[in-house]
Order: sequence, then structure tokens, then C-alpha cells
Amino acid sequence: MKKLIITIDGPAASGKEKIAKYIAKKWKLNHLDSGILYRRLALIFSIEKIDIENVNKIKNKLKNIHQISFRNSKNIRTQVISRLASKIAVHDCVRNYVNKLQYNFVNKNKKIQGFVIDGRDIGSVVFKNADLKLYIDVNPEIRAKRRYKQLIDSGEKSIYPKILKDIKLRDKQDKLRKHSPLVIPKGAHMVDNSGSFTDTIKQIKVLLDKI
Ligand code: DC
Repeated sequence: MKKLIITIDGPAASGKEKIAKYIAKKWKLNHLDSGILYRRLALIFSIEKIDIENVNKIKNKLKNIHQISFRNSKNIRTQVISRLASKIAVHDCVRNYVNKLQYNFVNKNKKIQGFVIDGRDIGSVVFKNADLKLYIDVNPEIRAKRRYKQLIDSGEKSIYPKILKDIKLRDKQDKLRKHSPLVIPKGAHMVDNSGSFTDTIKQIKVLLDKI
């Protein structure tokens, strides 16, 4: 049986995760957040003090990582790990490693009827032939306000102008990198997530009903 694949791409803090979780629950699909995999690698590199500018050191380390957790956790959601994940994501070897993990995840789960996968290159590179591609759009100021609130609520110290600067920097890194930059994938539907979540869901339901 062919598995349904829905991809969700968009910039940092655009609400991809919340939307993906909603779709997964409502349409009984498995959710895979590819950002978690970049964050997990960033955490390992940071703990082991791997020089992230040195591609050979990264390649050697990747050869020795045989398992990676797909679970979310508080220690991969810090500002430091966010920045590091975006930096390591420029390397082709890191992207290939993460992409393999994603293909294995989808292929090994034979009984699952479909997947919703979110990230920066999912509809444009990883699952080009997806059944539905979404691109989530929200301006940087709204994203920064939401991320600021999230960090404060989770007990992290946070300053709004710094968050906005960080978001703009990550946008730049994600959009300008040579390998698999963040783009609107060919055939993707734009979803405006600047308003209420109910508004966003309305847009998505229309698209999902057409599959
Ligand atoms: O979605 P996120 O904020 O958790 O992702 C963290 C970083 O990982 C992001 O700044 C860039 C990188 N990333 C990527 O390059 N490609 C993906 N498919 C997912 C994440």
C-alpha cells in the first residue's frame, strides 16, 4: 500500500510543528520533525566539542553515531542549540545523514498509513513526490513574539530584540546555504499562519479534503 506523505516546510518558529502535530492526530498519520534530528546532532557536537567548521571531524563523528533519538526534549530547544543546528545544517554530510534517518523511518514503519514531516527541505529535496506540500508563512516579527513567549513560559531568560535578531539570522543561514536551502517547494501550497490557529486549520482542511 502506498503511504501518504505530507510535507511541511517553513522558516524557524513559523508553527510547523504545531500544524504537523494537528494534522497527524486528526488524520491518523505519524509525525516526523526533521529539525529534532539536526538538533540532536548539534547537541552531540556541542557536548563532544566537535569543531563544526571542520568537515572531516564532522564526518568522522557521524560514522560513529549509530543511533539517534527522534524524541523532543527541553535540552535541544535552547537558543544555543537552535543556532548550532542551523550552522551544522549547511554541511552536505550532515544533511545526507539526516535524510537517511528520515527514509529509514518512513520505510521501516510498514503498517503506518502515512507521515507528516516538517522541516526546511522536505518538499523540495527529501520527499519531492509528496502527496501534499505545505509552506508555512509568517513574518519574522510575529515569529519572534511567539518564540519569546514560548521561551519565557518554559522558564528560559529571553529578550525580544535578541530573539528577533536570532530569527533573522537563522532565516538568512537557512535560505542562503548552498545545500538544500529553505525555498518554497515546487507545487507547495502557501499557508498563512500569522492569524489564529483556527484560521490556519481552515486553510489546511480545504487542502487535505482534496487529497
Ligand atoms: O525546525 P527547527 O527550528 O527545529 O530546526 C533547527 C535547525 O535545523 C534549522 O535552523 C535548520 C535545520 N533544519 C534543516 O536545515 N532542515 C530541516 N529539514 C530541518 C531543520
